[in-house]
Amino acid sequence: MTTDSSSAEQAELHREIARRRTFAIISHPDAGKTTMTEKLLLFGGAIHLAGAVKAKKNQKSATSDWMSIERERGISVSTAVMTFEYRGLQLNLLDTPGHNDFSEDTFRTLTAVDAVLMVIDASKGVETQTRKLLEVCRLKRTPVITFMNKMDLESMDPLDLLDNLEKELHMVCTPVTWPIGKGKEFQGVYDLRDHTLNFYMAAERGHKNEREVIGDLNSERARSMVGKHLQQITEETELLAGACEPYDEKRFLRGQQTPVFFGSALNNFGVKELLDCFCDLAPGPQPRETVLRVVDPEEPKFSGFVFKIQANMDKNHRDRMAFVRVCSGIFRRGMTLRHVRTGKDIAVRNAMTFLARDRSIVDEAYPGDIIGIPNHGTIRIADTFSEGEVLQFTGIPSFAPELFRRVRLKDPMRQKQLAKGLTEVCEEGTAQLFRPVIGSDWIVGAVGPLQFDVIETRLRDEYSVDAAFEGLSLSVCRWVSLDAAVNRRTFEDAYARDLFTDGQGNLCLLTETRFRADYIADRNPGVKLHTTIELHAN
Ligand code: G4P
Repeated sequence: MTTDSSSAEQAELHREIARRRTFAIISHPDAGKTTMTEKLLLFGGAIHLAGAVKAKKNQKSATSDWMSIERERGISVSTAVMTFEYRGLQLNLLDTPGHNDFSEDTFRTLTAVDAVLMVIDASKGVETQTRKLLEVCRLKRTPVITFMNKMDLESMDPLDLLDNLEKELHMVCTPVTWPIGKGKEFQGVYDLRDHTLNFYMAAERGHKNEREVIGDLNSERARSMVGKHLQQITEETELLAGACEPYDEKRFLRGQQTPVFFGSALNNFGVKELLDCFCDLAPGPQPRETVLRVVDPEEPKFSGFVFKIQANMDKNHRDRMAFVRVCSGIFRRGMTLRHVRTGKDIAVRNAMTFLARDRSIVDEAYPGDIIGIPNHGTIRIADTFSEGEVLQFTGIPSFAPELFRRVRLKDPMRQKQLAKGLTEVCEEGTAQLFRPVIGSDWIVGAVGPLQFDVIETRLRDEYSVDAAFEGLSLSVCRWVSLDAAVNRRTFEDAYARDLFTDGQGNLCLLTETRFRADYIADRNPGVKLHTTIELHAN
């Protein structure tokens, strides 16, 4: 390549990186993540009527509903990533499953984003799922922007909400907007940055609504619109000025301070302020760590890692989509990439990109983008792709499951198919497969019970294997690392009934109680137990 063309390419890379924002929305189920997603896509012009994102409710009810939705999704939609343009920026919104039982998937998705939008139900404050997800963000120092949703319903007092957020999530809160009234009297937000009043007129469901901005708090119009709330706003904002720490970019970027917005996603109140501020504050694609060095997005050579695998994206082919976060360089259609774990070079001609509900073949992709590589099970979570360099991105976790069941095969002649099915389904990363160090049982571990139903159905539908799950009293999983002084064989012999290997061959303890696991560790200096494990390409 000539110097001219390589500097043109570098300029292109620089320009495209600058306009990328890759993020996820996290929330407790029902707080309004789906509704918020719809509103953002509406602003981005990616959909024209809210309600188009997905048939959302049924996920949380019966299993069968959930599964039919997944199947339906499989044939038509990938909501794994939604890309849309806003104010000249390209926003890549990574979807996270709404159901708690799939939280592992969510945790890993968070490794592929540069910022997070946290939606909180203002009538409930911080809830369990948000707490867990935010822990992951804190660990990764991901910047978080907060939206207090459902202010149109009876909600907690805004000052109490801030207090709740600070205490529960150990984060400094800096409000950017402040609600004008709440519940039935919620009219809009006061923008604390430019001191404007932003009123909204409710619109027909799914459509954009009208907004009126009033700059002068003392004007006749302001008085007539705000009425009795004027005093409330004046008092509360004076209080805030004294009590809240000012916005500090460094602390925000380190995930220690969160700008807070108030509004109603359903009524589209306060969403535009949120989106505009998100575009101003959220960082672009960040450098990513590998085992040996940090990869900067502006490096000319392509690199990326797999954070999610989704099966059955196309009902006509039993393919799996590997979702790759681009970390550096430019991906161009047809280029040869090194699949680092296998050492194979592959020409990638059919990678997919996603625009709201549609997917198409990707011609070019830049850092921050997500591309889908169709495959038949050769690609795994945490795999790295590069232009030849042996890189291994770190920080892609697997979490200890809490529910364990033994697989019972109804037809013993189908052993091979069972092994293939279980291995492939578990490689997608929402459940984990274990085998005892002595014996031949298959044990599946999951975060939630729904996984077992899903696997049972998929084994039957996709692998023609009739299997059932049998409850086990195990509840604790700890990965085991041994110091060089510990003889693995002797240790395995001593605790054979407690020891298993996971799908990647790592040694772990599965026990009924935490006490038993701790007891084994206490008795054996040089044995360390871990609740998470780094996924890596071995
Ligand atoms: P999730 O993805 O986080 O699980 O939440 P989702 O957006 O599905 O919202 C959960 C419920 O809360 C939905 O009602 C939704 O309409 C409602 N909702 C979301 N934002 C607001 C808001 O700002 N104000 C009010 N009043 N409600 C809001 P649903 O009855 O369960 O479903 P649907 O029939 O409305 O679709």
